[in-house]
Amino acid sequence: MSSEFSPIDKAKFVAAKRAVDYVDDGMRVGLGTGSTAAWMVKMLGELVRDEGLKIKAVPTSNRTAQLARDVGIDVFTLDEVKWLDLTIDGADEFDPDLNLIKGGGGALLQEKIVATASDQMVVISDASKSVETLGAFPLPVEVVKFGWQTTKALIEECLSNVNVLGSAVSLRLQNDAPMLTDEGHYILDLHLKRIENARELSLILNQVPGVVENGLFLDIADAIVIGHGDGRVEVR
Ligand code: 5RP
Repeated sequence: MSSEFSPIDKAKFVAAKRAVDYVDDGMRVGLGTGSTAAWMVKMLGELVRDEGLKIKAVPTSNRTAQLARDVGIDVFTLDEVKWLDLTIDGADEFDPDLNLIKGGGGALLQEKIVATASDQMVVISDASKSVETLGAFPLPVEVVKFGWQTTKALIEECLSNVNVLGSAVSLRLQNDAPMLTDEGHYILDLHLKRIENARELSLILNQVPGVVENGLFLDIADAIVIGHGDGRVEVR
């Protein structure tokens, strides 16, 4: 790794490097999305190419699938593999109980399906994403395009009944147009600041017609590999 990398990049790199140790020959592995996961995919690619590691990889987004192919990893769909031994993925926030906010990269739906279909989910993150209570990072919610403004209004109404500090909801844009997920949906970002009861919020959000999934990953992660800018790594 070159010395021009920032401490955050270094932290992501060392977390990804440690997490690759969880991968054994013959495993079915879910590949996460994002810059931290991209390091992990590249490192796995090296092991596949140089050391003959054999894995069945299921990517969580089109861009991870492309990267995996580029580095020589054979890519399968979840329906081909059905169940996974391990998923390694990044996060936008994690709390002391290993609950997460994910979806900053817009891939939360496939990420949640893949992580849930895995015996083990290992999260890789730089230390800056550690929080006592989730919510400072805007919570992504994937919604169908049809009637999205009504869905947004219903979500706003829900937020007035739950214990959160903020309530602004914004449509995620890319190049001045609504960002489309790999599944052809929109993302609403919920600016909540602090989520007191993530379980309740997750249930309420997923009951709103038009909501496909939300970015709260509760009781899904089994371990978090945390990288620091000075190269230290801790595992929780
Ligand atoms: C994508 C995600 C990513 O895992 C999350 O945004 C972290 O990304 P990065 O590793 O680039 O910081 O949830 O939907």
